[in-house]
Amino acid sequence: MQVLSRFSGASLAPLTAVVLLGITTASAQPRLDVPYVPTPQEVVDRMLQLGKVKAGQFHLDLGSGDGRIAVTSAAKHGARSLGVDLNPVRIEEARANAKKAGVSDRATFELKNLFETDIGKADIVTMYLLPSVNIELRPKILRDMWPGTRIVSHAFDMGDWTPDHRESVIGRTVYMWIVPARVEGRWTIEGSRNFTVTIQQKYQEISGSADIDGKSIPLRDASLRGAEIGFAIDIDGMPYRFQGIVNGDQIGGRRNEWRAARAK
Ligand SMILES: C[S@@+](CC[C@H](N)C(=O)[O-])C[C@H]1O[C@@H](n2cnc3c(N)ncnc32)[C@H](O)[C@@H]1O
Repeated sequence: MQVLSRFSGASLAPLTAVVLLGITTASAQPRLDVPYVPTPQEVVDRMLQLGKVKAGQFHLDLGSGDGRIAVTSAAKHGARSLGVDLNPVRIEEARANAKKAGVSDRATFELKNLFETDIGKADIVTMYLLPSVNIELRPKILRDMWPGTRIVSHAFDMGDWTPDHRESVIGRTVYMWIVPARVEGRWTIEGSRNFTVTIQQKYQEISGSADIDGKSIPLRDASLRGAEIGFAIDIDGMPYRFQGIVNGDQIGGRRNEWRAARAK
């Protein structure tokens, strides 16, 4: 059985080294996709800051280990947190740690495979997994999570999905992504003028063009952050800025001055 480090975040081999050495949880019966290595507390604290976790929000920690991330979000931020882990020993430890911290009512733990966990209701997801596991989770994150939801990962990225933020904390890399709305397609814009806009999308990166009076005009400064979309179009030599909020197949202009519907 592994000896647990305490919440202080003693110096521990990063997960990469453990994986390279081929060390696994020898006594664990379930087939784990990731070995157990805890996140140092300084990194936990910064992950939760980057996730902007707030009181009352629902925080999900995938592969929760001894529960330190979920317990911290409940104890320090007032979140309602759920940790899932496939190892029953970790689940017992996590529940004991939640009890010790006095947050058993808000930090709960389930013996569950992270790939079978419903992630759609989470306001923030944290994880310390492996590159291959992150990439396997990526389509589910993009499909099931609300635009604007924050994903924070310790140590590993998500392949070609560029993080919205990345930083080093005591030598560990932390990544943060904001789930983008899906905006690809052709949109009919109604406002002081009516025209169509065609948008191409790769994660949060968007580009496209407007079709105005038979002329194709490229979108300038196009941006997408969660459900917030923005772009500029030069019409008759005048720059027009569009900012709106995406809601499924509709976009509402920030000040109701325009709206758009996606063509079916
Ligand atoms: C690197 S540890 C991270 C622990 C904790 N989140 C932290 O950062 O301190 C990964 C955890 O994922 C768990 N795990 C591995 N495969 C899993 C799976 N398929 N479903 C749920 N948990 C899994 C392991 O038991 C381990 O506790």
